[in-house]
Amino acid sequence: MSSVKTAQTSHKVLDLIKERWSPRSYSAQPVTEEEVLTILEGASWAPSANNSQPWRYVYALAGTPGFDKLYAALMPGNQPWAKNAAALVLSIGIKELPDLEQKNHYYAHDTGMSNAFLLLQADSMGINGHVMAGFHKQQIAESLELPATEEPLVIIALGRRDDAEKLEEPYKSRELAPRTRKPLSEFTKQV
Ligand SMILES: Cc1cc2nc3c(=O)[nH]c(=O)nc-3n(C[C@H](O)[C@H](O)[C@H](O)COP(=O)(O)O)c2cc1C
Repeated sequence: MSSVKTAQTSHKVLDLIKERWSPRSYSAQPVTEEEVLTILEGASWAPSANNSQPWRYVYALAGTPGFDKLYAALMPGNQPWAKNAAALVLSIGIKELPDLEQKNHYYAHDTGMSNAFLLLQADSMGINGHVMAGFHKQQIAESLELPATEEPLVIIALGRRDDAEKLEEPYKSRELAPRTRKPLSEFTKQV
């Protein structure tokens, strides 16, 4: 199970966390709508400020016009590999608190929490996600007629990861590179 991508940790971190990584090579095996809905239900159990759940998800399975619409908005650096994803999921943050035309200062934080749950739920099912901020937000907002209160935050590619050899450079090298993180001492401190 362990691979070059397995997180090298100094403490006993969950295997689910250690083995999650963002692939670019996806197999042709489809994901079903049931699987996507399971993943999104997992996401919905993330905590959020006042349980406001300031997120919305628009998803599309490969081979559908919806997939083409989300795919068309991706930046050129993401399109060459994301074309093989089995599904694309647009994660949208809701900027205002429900019923209060008031800014929710935590919408991006909470939607990020939900996306993290999404990735772990997916990984637990053998479906691997790759988050992308590299897409044309205005284009998506217009094509989906999103209200001004909703902000497209990221598009997440989903699918089952496959052989790195299927990728062209520079993606192949990235697929084979070990994952790194700052040492704990650099971002933690006891007071
Ligand atoms: C908000 C956000 C935006 C990202 N945008 C992109 C992107 O546009 N293209 C891409 O290939 N990866 C993107 N990534 C993936 C990161 O590069 C990746 O998570 C990071 O390098 C750590 O690698 P790992 O997820 O395999 O541990 C994004 C990740 C996040 C959380």
